Amino acid sequence: MPSRQVATGPIGVFDSGIGGLSVLAALRQELPQEHFVYIGDAGHAPYGERDTAHVLHRSQVLADYLCTTHQAKALVLACNTATAAAVASLRARYPMLPIVGIEPALKPAAAQSISGVVAVMATRSTLASDKFQALLSLQAPSVRFVLQACDGLAAAIEQADRQAIASLCQRYVHALRQNPDGGAHIDTVVLGCTHYALITGVLGPIWGPQVKLLEAGPPVARRTRQVLGAADLLRSASKETEQEALSAATLYWSTGEPALLNHALEDFLGAGPNVRANALLLP
Ligand code: DGL
Repeated sequence: MPSRQVATGPIGVFDSGIGGLSVLAALRQELPQEHFVYIGDAGHAPYGERDTAHVLHRSQVLADYLCTTHQAKALVLACNTATAAAVASLRARYPMLPIVGIEPALKPAAAQSISGVVAVMATRSTLASDKFQALLSLQAPSVRFVLQACDGLAAAIEQADRQAIASLCQRYVHALRQNPDGGAHIDTVVLGCTHYALITGVLGPIWGPQVKLLEAGPPVARRTRQVLGAADLLRSASKETEQEALSAATLYWSTGEPALLNHALEDFLGAGPNVRANALLLP
C-alpha cells in the first residue's frame, strides 16, 4: 500500500515501451509544474500480442514499483492495452490513488466524422478486450467503426525499424480501405495504441490530407489535471522546498534497452544529451 499521496510527489506513467511518450508530451504541456517518473516496460513487450494475464501482472509490478519506490501521487496508464487489461484491478488494489487510463477516442471520432465511417487502428489485445467492446457498444449506431489489429507495428516502432514501419502502415491502411463495410469512405482514424501517435508523420501521408488522425494523449492530460485538482494533489511550485525544486522533473526507466528509449526521447520529446533513461530490473 502506498503511504498517503502528497502534492509534491511525482506522477507515475507507464507503457510497454516508448509509446507512452506521446502521452507524456501532452501531460508535460498540460501540467508543466509536475514531476513525472516514466517507465517503458520494453523488456516485457509488446503487450498487444500477449495474453491478458501477462499485461495484468506487468501492470501490477510497475504500479507497485511506482507507488513504493517513487511514492507516486497518481498513475497514468499511457497504454491502451494495459488500460483495457488492468485499470479496474489497479483501482481495486489502490483505492485511494488517482489512476487515469487511456482508451481509443471513439466518441470524439464519431462526432468529427462526416462520412460516418471511422477506422480504429489498435493492438489485437485492445480490440478483443471487454472494455473496448463495451465502449464500442455505446457509440451511435449511425457511425460505422472498421477495426484493424496492427500486429507487429508497435514492435517495429519500438525498434525504430523504418522499413518495417512503412510497410506495415501501408499494409494496414490498405486493408482498412478495402474493408467491405465502408472502408473506402473512412474519413477519421482512431489511433488506439499510444505507439501509433509517434508515427503520424508516416501514417498521415499514407491516409492522405482528407483523413483525420485522432490520438488520446491530450484528453488524458486534461483528465489527469481534473483528477489531481479534485484530490487536491496539484503541485504548486511556491510550496516546494529548495531540494524538491532542484530534483529532476522527469525520470525515465526502461526494463529493456535504455538506448531505444533514449533515441525516442531525442526524436519525440526533443530531449537534450543530459536527459537519459536508466535500466530497471523489474522481474
Ligand atoms: N502502446 C501500447 C498501447 O497503447 C501497446 C503496444 C504494445 O503492443 O506493447 O496499446
